[in-house]
Amino acid sequence: MRKKIVAGNWKMNTLPAEGVELAKGVAAGRGGVCECVDFIVCPPFTHLSTVAEALKGSGIALGAQNCAAEEKGAYTGEVSAAMIAALGCKYVILGHSERRQYYGETSETLNKKMAQAYANGLTPIYCVGENLDEREAGKHFDVVKAQIEEVVYNLTAEQFKNLVIAYEPVWAIGTGKTATAEQAQEIHAYIRKVLSAKFGAAADECAILYGGSCKPSNAAEIFAKADVDGGLIGGAALKAEDFLAIGKGFEK
Ligand code: 13P
Repeated sequence: MRKKIVAGNWKMNTLPAEGVELAKGVAAGRGGVCECVDFIVCPPFTHLSTVAEALKGSGIALGAQNCAAEEKGAYTGEVSAAMIAALGCKYVILGHSERRQYYGETSETLNKKMAQAYANGLTPIYCVGENLDEREAGKHFDVVKAQIEEVVYNLTAEQFKNLVIAYEPVWAIGTGKTATAEQAQEIHAYIRKVLSAKFGAAADECAILYGGSCKPSNAAEIFAKADVDGGLIGGAALKAEDFLAIGKGFEK
């Protein structure tokens, strides 16, 4: 049985006190959602320790949105995987399209970040997805295949067991435009096939999340698809009520 996961990527939103309130709201309502769903929240670095405190005893996991490619040292402004792990993070989002697009993250950098994540006991949530031009040109399968082959294929079988994939079509992120449940299923099944070509049956155990304008009104339909194991949520993760309601999408 694959894990069902609803992860919130807060991006560069909330001031520290607001983040703590949001986390408390999610923790307070968590009991109203099936225990079969694993919730993860990924606040900005600055609130990781206070949010960790607010989540204590809630069973909700903490993740960071990024980590450095290097272990430690003279890398001004960077935050290492060891630092976020020490604050209680279990997960780290890597390869988000916003980081690929605005901060020049390449497969080369991501291979190093993945290594740092594993060296510090973190589970990466590795993001893949095509942009609008690529989708319209019918290249979306090739794009995600390359993003997986260039990074995920370098993992050991043991590391692969601790990996979450998030498929996020760039044209659906923050646009209000969601992939249809059929589009999501089609590419999630394809991603699983690409994973199984390298990792065999272990690919059946890998959670593949959908991300991109996922909200309470569309989550149930998307999560009902066989190869969709949950969501990576942006905007709707900023309201505890909506975030929790997305988790209820598994109950329908
Ligand atoms: P939205 O849910 O705001 O479209 O963002 C999705 C996303 O990028 C999550 O990582």
